[in-house]
Amino acid sequence: MRVGVLTGGGDCPGLNAVIRAVVRTGIVDYGFEFVGFKDGWRGPLEADSQPLDVQAVRGILPRGGTILGSSRTNPLSDKATADGRTGLQRITENLAVLGVDALIAIGGEDTLGVASKLAGSGLRVVGVPKTIDNDLGATDFTFGFDTAVNIAMEAIDRLHTTAESHHRALIVEVMGRNAGWIALHAGIAGGANVILIPERPFDIEEVCDYVQHRFETRYAPIVVVAEGAHPKASTQVDNAKLDSFGHARLGGVGQMLAEEIERRTGKEARATVLGHIQRGGTPTAFDRVLATRFGVHAIRAVAAGESGVMVALRGTEVVKVPIEEAVNQLKLVPTERFEEAEIFFG
Ligand code: F6P
Repeated sequence: MRVGVLTGGGDCPGLNAVIRAVVRTGIVDYGFEFVGFKDGWRGPLEADSQPLDVQAVRGILPRGGTILGSSRTNPLSDKATADGRTGLQRITENLAVLGVDALIAIGGEDTLGVASKLAGSGLRVVGVPKTIDNDLGATDFTFGFDTAVNIAMEAIDRLHTTAESHHRALIVEVMGRNAGWIALHAGIAGGANVILIPERPFDIEEVCDYVQHRFETRYAPIVVVAEGAHPKASTQVDNAKLDSFGHARLGGVGQMLAEEIERRTGKEARATVLGHIQRGGTPTAFDRVLATRFGVHAIRAVAAGESGVMVALRGTEVVKVPIEEAVNQLKLVPTERFEEAEIFFG
């Protein structure tokens, strides 16, 4: 059997660990052959592939990024139609020419949404969930999240000391377009004085009260804000640039907050945007282990003839769920979880 592997969407620490586990398990346990598709769905769409064997995956376990490259190419969009063939037809034909019998798609909501449609059309596809945002449904955790949280926590630890030296408010903007998991976990772990997440539109006056209160205790405030957080009665971003899945490129809420806090409190405030630092670099041990386990279970699912399923973490067990279950509903931060963090505000 010949299995294709691809990584789509925003990259994330742990992708290489999945690729390694898939290839090693597939070759050692089943005698499969592998083909790596380049840059997410662009690879199968344009028949752009590379051979993948044990040698090709040596030494990649601790490496961030993905040896296969990634992109946000959407094969289901009109742009993917060429020579009168839809993206789906192009992929089906290219896989047949390359002799690929099954695909393992490693990605987030968009990549897996396409995987699910392909599985529905008869191709054998197994999904592996990834996103630093941890907002995919049907799995307790995605790999990459723990690494991102640790990077953000370390940044907050560092910002505490400089904020205190200068008696400033420091605003840390972290990733999270729809869900505030990174902000919540890094904020709790780093002892933030305010955490703002997309699920809970904020009241700027309340934020300023927390900031003032923190200054009164003679310590400097740290505000952690997810990029998708927004004030009450306001939408996210107008006229933002959209990617091929229609998502707005976010960013800017941290700076907006710093200016508003400075104006309203009279205290100096600065913003730090962590951006892609959260996505790059070596994965934590937790993410390496989770990614490896996901890879092993994904190729076992392929060997068992399954399709349209995704590996997922439930408690400490790796299980399989329909891909649809994961992409149909985003996993948002529940109110009770936010309330636990709120105890420490101010
Ligand atoms: O989906 C993961 C994510 O990290 C989001 O939190 C963020 O909004 C987005 O990717 C950024 O993507 P890009 O690198 O394509 O701008």
